[in-house]
Amino acid sequence: MNKTILKWAGSKAKVMAQLNQYLPAGARLVEPFAGSCAVMMNTDYPAYLIADINPDLINLYQQVKEFEKPFTALVAGIFAQNGSEEDYRRIRNEFNHEASLPLLYRAAYFLYLNRHGYRGLCRYNRKGDFNTPYEKQAKPHLPVDEIRAFAAKAQRATFICADFTETLAQVQAGDVVYCDPPYAGAFTQYHTDAFNDGKQRQLAQLLSSSISAGVSVVASNSDTPLVQELYAGFDRHVISVARSIGVAAGKGKKASEIVAVSRVVAVSEVAA
Ligand SMILES: C[S@@+](CC[C@H](N)C(=O)[O-])C[C@H]1O[C@@H](n2cnc3c(N)ncnc32)[C@H](O)[C@@H]1O
Repeated sequence: MNKTILKWAGSKAKVMAQLNQYLPAGARLVEPFAGSCAVMMNTDYPAYLIADINPDLINLYQQVKEFEKPFTALVAGIFAQNGSEEDYRRIRNEFNHEASLPLLYRAAYFLYLNRHGYRGLCRYNRKGDFNTPYEKQAKPHLPVDEIRAFAAKAQRATFICADFTETLAQVQAGDVVYCDPPYAGAFTQYHTDAFNDGKQRQLAQLLSSSISAGVSVVASNSDTPLVQELYAGFDRHVISVARSIGVAAGKGKKASEIVAVSRVVAVSEVAA
């Protein structure tokens, strides 16, 4: 398993062996809900379109892609000099209120806050301020190897900060789309806007349209009646996933997740 730069609540890193069984080959993998990029880091497509609504995430990925070495040096210095909770609060405050912070620093601070914050939770308040609390740890991990691996893989990726509707408007025949939206039925607010049932419906409808346009779709979600209904036209597989946050979090606690799969049938296959 390739590890990710960020620790991330809802990361798919630990279920990639299961997920990879359902991801077909294709010219490009499109991920409208990239999160930690665990899927990009554990697949091997010729090209990637990586999107997320969170501008801090996408800025981090763009900075690592373009400036791996200065970024790594900057992050190492910030980690070395800012180990206390007081340091964490000061950097979080600067991250939220210093409008002139250069994008490379913003990316480095975001990674610092992620690695020193509570269990990979990426939470913002209504004003858009990052407000994840500090987590006391013996030695937060400085992900140098993960940054290097990400920068190498990122050379075949395009990163965009976009709502899933904009990303899905860019898919082309031959693409594989992997969707991992915030869970249906949970209060999931990764950024300022909550992902409600209406959005789950809109997503499922757009995915069905993409399939008609020659795109292969794989979608993960929680195993709920709404998800079963929305993805009734897909092959549905149930997998078991460890939760890092919430009621199912903790030693060995697992939750059921659906992987909905719909594969485009090539004209040659239909004829055979
Ligand atoms: C469950 S996480 C994805 C986890 C990812 N598969 C991984 O392995 O780390 C969901 C992601 O969707 C993003 N998101 C939430 N609402 C969105 C929207 N309307 N459009 C695009 N991305 C959105 C969040 O910022 C978050 O990064």
